[in-house]
Amino acid sequence: MSSNQKLYEGKAKILYSTEDPEILLTYFKDDATAFNAQKRGKIVGKGQMNCKISSLIFKLLEANGIPTHFIDCPEVDKMRVRRVKILPIEVIIRNIAAGSLCRQTGLTEGTVLKFPLVEYCYKNDSLQDPLLTRDRLLIMELATPEQLEQIRTFALKINDILTDFFNQCQITLVDFKIEFGLDGENNLILADEISPDSCRLWDKSQTDPNLRVMDKDRFRRDLGNVESAYQQVLERILAQTS
Ligand code: TMP
Ligand code: ASP
Repeated sequence: MSSNQKLYEGKAKILYSTEDPEILLTYFKDDATAFNAQKRGKIVGKGQMNCKISSLIFKLLEANGIPTHFIDCPEVDKMRVRRVKILPIEVIIRNIAAGSLCRQTGLTEGTVLKFPLVEYCYKNDSLQDPLLTRDRLLIMELATPEQLEQIRTFALKINDILTDFFNQCQITLVDFKIEFGLDGENNLILADEISPDSCRLWDKSQTDPNLRVMDKDRFRRDLGNVESAYQQVLERILAQTS
């Protein structure tokens, strides 16, 4: 395969080939979408910030035994990653009720959950990423029972590592979405990104439901100060990792 070919363009990232068939280049865009791309905009500097935040988080997870697709960042908004086949499952882990969990269950936003809730959505824009049951996921052959078990184990371990880490940053990890891929030997590998686009992060020093938001909900809910919130997340992570 020749290098620098566009392989895939998503809503927030573009994937390019490289001279090595096992390595891809991810370009992080400033583009932001919400509500299945019904709302579109730009968050200036988001590409660079999410690339940096994701790379720091992937390094932290690797150091704690989680295999990730991260290799390095040759430029501020570009990440080299191992080529994997992405499983079309959005894995969501929740510690505190927010977003679609509140809409679908009536739980009050901010309710601390008795245990981390692991949910699976079908990554399919035309179906609007519907929530899956375990049996639907298996019937659809989106993963094997063994892969699903490993996904759940990884997801809970990632939640433990990140909850602890964000606590040190004075940030509450409310919930987050991750995606996994399979490498050439069918090993399960954490892929995609982990950033304020894919997490709900609340500033521990704020109790106001709008002021505490440090993630893409600022964009989704038109709360303003989106860029400075992402920048603040990056600065706190940098302060804890350097
Ligand atoms: P939800 O409450 O809207 O289902 O979102 C749960 C978490 O998943 C939240 O941290 C935001 C993240 N998320 C994504 O990364 N991509 C998406 O398309 C959606 C809907 C949520
Ligand atoms: N990424 C999703 C989209 O536009 C939604 C979201 O993050 O809220 O469609």
